[in-house]
Amino acid sequence: MTTHRLTDRLGGLAFGGDYNPEQWDAATWKEDDELMHRAGVNLVTVGVFSWALLEPEEGRYAFDWLDAHLDRLHAAGVAVDLATPTASPPPWFTLAHPEAMPVTPEGVRLTHGSRDTYCLAAPAYREAARRIASALAERYADHPAVAMWHVHNEYATLCHCEHTAAAFRDWLRERHGSLDALNEAWGTAFWSQRYGSWEQVQPPRATQWHGNPGRSVDFSRFFSDLTLAAYREQRDAIRAHSDLPVTTNFMLPGYQTLDLWAFGREVDLVAIDHYPCAPGVDAAADTAFGADRARSFAGGRPWLLMEQGTNTVYAGDRTLPKEPGDILRHSLGHVARGSEGALFFQWRQSRAGAEFFHSALVPHAGADSRVFREAAATGAAVGRLAELAGSTVHARAAVLHDSDAWWAMNVNGLPSAELDYHGSLRRAHRALWDARVTTDFAHPEQDLSRYRLVVAPALFLLSDAGAANLRAYVEGGGTLLVQPFSGAVDERVQARLGGYPAAPLREALGIRVEEYRPLAADAELTLSDGSRARSWSESLRTEGAETVAAYTDGTLAGLPALTRHAFGAGHGWYLSTRLDDAAYAALVAALAAAAGLGPDVPGLPAAVESVTRRAGDGRRWHVLINHGSDPVTLPEPAHDLLTGGPLAELAPGGCAVLRAH
Ligand code: GAL
Repeated sequence: MTTHRLTDRLGGLAFGGDYNPEQWDAATWKEDDELMHRAGVNLVTVGVFSWALLEPEEGRYAFDWLDAHLDRLHAAGVAVDLATPTASPPPWFTLAHPEAMPVTPEGVRLTHGSRDTYCLAAPAYREAARRIASALAERYADHPAVAMWHVHNEYATLCHCEHTAAAFRDWLRERHGSLDALNEAWGTAFWSQRYGSWEQVQPPRATQWHGNPGRSVDFSRFFSDLTLAAYREQRDAIRAHSDLPVTTNFMLPGYQTLDLWAFGREVDLVAIDHYPCAPGVDAAADTAFGADRARSFAGGRPWLLMEQGTNTVYAGDRTLPKEPGDILRHSLGHVARGSEGALFFQWRQSRAGAEFFHSALVPHAGADSRVFREAAATGAAVGRLAELAGSTVHARAAVLHDSDAWWAMNVNGLPSAELDYHGSLRRAHRALWDARVTTDFAHPEQDLSRYRLVVAPALFLLSDAGAANLRAYVEGGGTLLVQPFSGAVDERVQARLGGYPAAPLREALGIRVEEYRPLAADAELTLSDGSRARSWSESLRTEGAETVAAYTDGTLAGLPALTRHAFGAGHGWYLSTRLDDAAYAALVAALAAAAGLGPDVPGLPAAVESVTRRAGDGRRWHVLINHGSDPVTLPEPAHDLLTGGPLAELAPGGCAVLRAH
């Protein structure tokens, strides 16, 4: 394990971004040095997409150009997060190893021309990736510019080729032990899918109609494990030469190809890329959603925002500008929640290539631009926050998140197409964010005792261990809110029999669900407490719980919709329908308040987001962001690190980082 902390090396928080000097000329490099200095850049990621330049032919390396850039950056006082370029193999690799190109579920083998075109199970790719990682580490381990290592970029390329099929079979053998166990787990008695030999088992390639759910979820698990093995191979190749921190950047918020809990345990510093797809206050909520997930994957330790944009990225079908002040607000939104800095993709907007209109710190217009001025102001702000380095955020509420449940909710054959894992997760987090309650994400099988409130918005798949853990959490005094369609299947993706959700959880909730009853697209329900709901209902009976709100319409009239069960020292709540946004937010806020949870800094209007970072020695800082359009008077003036003086009033859209007494 590495002993080096990035922030010790930098002397504070990180500010900067991806830097691709190979796209530019000497005059631009000179300007880069000057502008990086003006913007307070202290860390850049170099080499992410440089494989074709670093290894122009198989086995022949060309490092001189990189030597020169690292020397120049070091002389300019900028540290380097040195990347392995393996997300984008060069054309020679494709030609020499066509069998290492990924194959789609439909059987189409992709060709060179974009990036991320490789198969992680192909021996030639893995070997080439390990070799270049090792060569880079050997050459640059002692280079004074290098502060950390960045393996690959946003692992996510799925493949369905023969290499993948063989690796999948090995993984299945390991997981299930025998073919009989596999047949049993996947329920292959259905539709004559029984496998008589391992060779008959295929990845989930295109097929006539619905595929097997057990195979589908196992393939997702396999792909995540395969990716982690590929990451470890490069990390270990680097470790053989260097003890600097090693990471890889996770793609958030909506991609779900990896079990990021598992990755969080293997990287030295969790790093995320986060591009909110909406403008305004939704982007702020989304920032908190990404940041809280990053901190949780990091096990509460500090982490790093590796990439963000100075614009939004494809909000639907277009990139929308970030409004004045957003660059600072989003950066501090991440820092508030534990990031050790704010980095961007990328330093300078490219003039050619696939992403030539992707935003950057230095736009096409150059430094005489609103974007660069805001970027430089943000760099200056981050530069004043050195004392926050290493401090952490303590949340007392959690939203349960499990990749298995996410993958399972993507299988075909579920009762409604409106079921949406990611949407449910965001909605739960958003309700807590709106209530200004700082929230972690937690795995259903982890120790939950530090949380006063746990929300399970979409635990469709719940293991036996998870169900027992949630029961114990309530019994021990926690408040748990479980939402519809939870605990419906076990880890093999087989339905729970005898009533939903999984038995031990049912005990804590004091209910038994007999029937899922999705609603027609235009149907709307009114519950007995006046709240409105749509999309989904369930026929359930109480077994110890009290009914808080009942259905009033149709077949379910008079039956429980929302229940509460006093169990052990805690309370298990079950919500069996999809409340409208306002009613759902009110329910979550009421549960949070009843559990004694509120904003980290009390006494501020609801428009102000406040998060406290705490150091091990008791020092604390409150990061405040005013999302409202009115100035806010602080309960008492405090020292603001951003202005370097006392602050009594927070302007509309304004930010502050207050030293707490
Ligand atoms: C990230 C990626 C960058 C760049 C960026 C554009 O996901 O790592 O290389 O493509 O997106 O938003």
